Amino acid sequence: MEQRRERDGVVLRYTMGERVVHWVVALSFLYLLLTGLALFYPPFYWLAGLLGGGPVIRYWHPIVGLVFFGALVVMLLLWARDMRLERYDREWLRHMVDYAAGREEVVPPSGRFNAGQKFLFYLQFLAGILLLLSGVVLWFPLSFGRLVREASFVVHDLAAIAAMGALILHIYMGVFVIRGSWEAITRGTVSRRWAEAHHGLWLRQLRAAGSRSHE
Ligand code: HEM
Repeated sequence: MEQRRERDGVVLRYTMGERVVHWVVALSFLYLLLTGLALFYPPFYWLAGLLGGGPVIRYWHPIVGLVFFGALVVMLLLWARDMRLERYDREWLRHMVDYAAGREEVVPPSGRFNAGQKFLFYLQFLAGILLLLSGVVLWFPLSFGRLVREASFVVHDLAAIAAMGALILHIYMGVFVIRGSWEAITRGTVSRRWAEAHHGLWLRQLRAAGSRSHE
């Protein structure tokens, strides 16, 4: 396994494995979003034409849904330790408005992920569970009663809207607000200055782990 480390002012933020899992989650989710819109909302049915036609997307949507959920579980396993809520996250949350307004110099340092990233991840994970459970019912509708089917429609819809909202915020922050994050999730590395500015405690933890391993 690749070691997370700092060298020549460059810090490894995501290993190749972590990036592959992230992009499987991201691309499968985008496919689910487009095919879901086509299947659920008639005004978007034209999307089906671009993606192989109605029967094709009806066949692939639930299968890609399983891929999405499986990759999301792997993501949770990979990052479970870094996603744990810590005492310093409470302090960070108090400064969330400063963070959103770009006044990061007054925001307390965060670990590998800040409290906002953690909450967004848990929201996406919860939405993933609801999408999976309601999705199985919609996949095999004849195996369930009418009430369960109708409830699943509503749950699938609401969970998809929540996941979509979280994704819009995630992309907005990761691609447009925090410069350098895109390189992190594509090339895997960030500059030391980026790590100091956005995830100061994480950098300190990396250095402490590095010096322990040299003892
Ligand atoms: C096209 C879609 C997506 C783009 C452009 C994107 C972009 C990014 C970027 C730039 C980062 C690095 C942030 C950092 O290290 O500070 C990141 C990390 C991450 N992504 Fe995505 N992502 C996408 C889809 C998704 C989806 C669908 C999920 C989960 C359902 C997801 C979950 C995460 C998580 C948990 C992290 C680490 C923590 C965080 O930065 O929020 N991403 N993504």
